[in-house]
Amino acid sequence: MYYSIAIDGPAGAGKSTIAKEIAKKIGFIYVDTGAMYRAIALYFIREGIDGQERERISEECSRIRVTLDYNEEGKQQVYLNDENVTPFIRTEEVGKMASATAAIPAVRAALLDLQREMARTSNVLMDGRDIGTHVLPDASLKIYLTASSAVRARRRYDELRERGETCDFYQIEQDIIQRDQADMNRAIAPLRQAEDAVYIDSSDMGIDEVVSAVIAEYNKVILPE
Ligand code: DC
Repeated sequence: MYYSIAIDGPAGAGKSTIAKEIAKKIGFIYVDTGAMYRAIALYFIREGIDGQERERISEECSRIRVTLDYNEEGKQQVYLNDENVTPFIRTEEVGKMASATAAIPAVRAALLDLQREMARTSNVLMDGRDIGTHVLPDASLKIYLTASSAVRARRRYDELRERGETCDFYQIEQDIIQRDQADMNRAIAPLRQAEDAVYIDSSDMGIDEVVSAVIAEYNKVILPE
């Protein structure tokens, strides 16, 4: 029997930072499902397909195979038809396309089996939008991690500035609000807090505090080895 931890929440809430750290501490495999949606989105961008072409996107899904692997450092690598696309998926363009195309049932269906299979065969800490509500409704522990849009925009702004990129704070916050709306209001597997999820608002919390809060929940529900 394997344990699974689901961490859902809006863009920029810090899910992946937190999840990576916790997974390392407790020896679970970290599964970043957003990266899977981003890999599919990259395929559509490369093919010159518009995110609104729902029929064409649904047809193309049979030509797309997304797989995951972990390198020597334990970092997740995502493959698109056997090409490692990990270095190409972290752009705003890919993020927006991922949000648009994740609303299409065929895209979600293409990834669901792989996500469930991973949880069936190992202890996983999986993050995304619909993990606790849809992908792993019986997860051992569910966390809903959020922060105000201003705080999420500020974190993103600082990250971009650190990389030496020019950016506009107001535009970043608008993009975040728009992405929230798209992810929360789509018809299929929308982002929402599962009834049995622990709610954490990290607006006034540091990374270590959030990690400790999740580990405390883990210690309550999953007996440490
Ligand atoms: O977490 P992220 O920014 O890498 O995710 C990119 C987009 O993928 C997000 O805006 C919505 C979609 N997504 C989803 O619909 N379901 C998931 N489980 C993960 C991501």
